[in-house]
Amino acid sequence: MSETAPPERPAPSDLDRILRDPGFCRHSTGRVAVVEWEAGSGWSAPRLEPYATLPTDPATLGLHYGQAVFEGMKAFRGADGSVSLFRAADHGRRLGLSAARLAMAEMPTELFVRACVELVAADEHWVPGGYGQSLYIRPLLLATEAEMGLRPSRSYRCVFLAYPADPCFGSEFRPLAVTTATETVRAVRGGTGEAKCAGNYAASLLTRTEAQAAGYDEALWLDGVERRWVEELSTMNVFFVWHGEDGPRLTTPPCDGTIVRGITRDSLLALAEGLGLPAAEEPTAIDAVRDGVRSGALAEMFACGTAGAVVAVGRLGTAGGDLVVGDGKEGPVTERLRGALLDVQHARTPDTHGWLLPVTGAAGAVAIEGEGRQA
Ligand SMILES: Cc1ncc(COP(=O)(O)O)c(C=O)c1O
Repeated sequence: MSETAPPERPAPSDLDRILRDPGFCRHSTGRVAVVEWEAGSGWSAPRLEPYATLPTDPATLGLHYGQAVFEGMKAFRGADGSVSLFRAADHGRRLGLSAARLAMAEMPTELFVRACVELVAADEHWVPGGYGQSLYIRPLLLATEAEMGLRPSRSYRCVFLAYPADPCFGSEFRPLAVTTATETVRAVRGGTGEAKCAGNYAASLLTRTEAQAAGYDEALWLDGVERRWVEELSTMNVFFVWHGEDGPRLTTPPCDGTIVRGITRDSLLALAEGLGLPAAEEPTAIDAVRDGVRSGALAEMFACGTAGAVVAVGRLGTAGGDLVVGDGKEGPVTERLRGALLDVQHARTPDTHGWLLPVTGAAGAVAIEGEGRQA
């Protein structure tokens, strides 16, 4: 991998100070990985560059017609100090699916993974060591052709940004207050809800901002047709924990094209199974949630995603007023699943699912088919 001008390393005392309290995406590492695609010549090899503003022609197609998709993924420091990426290939595959939905060039997964590994290997000193902390990586794929007209761009740039990070809602995992979106919808079947495209987030901003102004952390989206079925939050999937006859039982809304196929959600379904907690993908009506809270059948509710990990929902706003889920505090199942996830991510328990990709010592070692441009 080429790197023309490595960014200056911060002084050890400055780096220490930042890594002790990184916040979420407050400090770039000063370095990015870049991969480009052009019609006719295909994908470039990845290269490392100093963080810099993009040259943006005002006619750039990605800005006008919204061909912009991204990922959010993390590298963690393990108990032995080494660094690994979590489910990097799955994030690469999902970026490809998002790109395909928006008629954009699909980056081969191995190229995506290679760019991530090289970036994290070069920025390894930026990976904090605290439990729950990580290096957050944000690959952004943007249509860059600058010639007006509604059609897929003939050039794309993928920029991989990196930031040391605490979980986005904080490391204390304080329970969230969320409120049901009643006026607007985020996605409908056949639309782009499953893609991690910029437009979905723009569509959620008004309601999310209003929810925050009303004292909530997030908006809970319902389906766009019946306005009845729980879908997800603006940046996280949701789970419900019900009192079952034989102990707790988990459900999460199914992925039917309107919600993001969360990699954390998928990890938790697998971890729950390993812990002997029954878990199912099941449509859940907001009335059933409300009735469950009132009757006590719903024991816990939590949100999950790469940025925030696993966070309890303690208060739920509905058309009929605010509900307190359980006692409003984090429940034992939420805590247990978060612990199981973070333990795998920090390599404190065996990685039985093969989710970790070691980065320490891996720079230059990720092989992809051929060098130079790929179709
Ligand atoms: C809308 C939405 N739902 C769910 C998620 C959770 O996905 P993941 O667990 O892969 O981060 C995200 C974050 O990527 C998201 O933006």
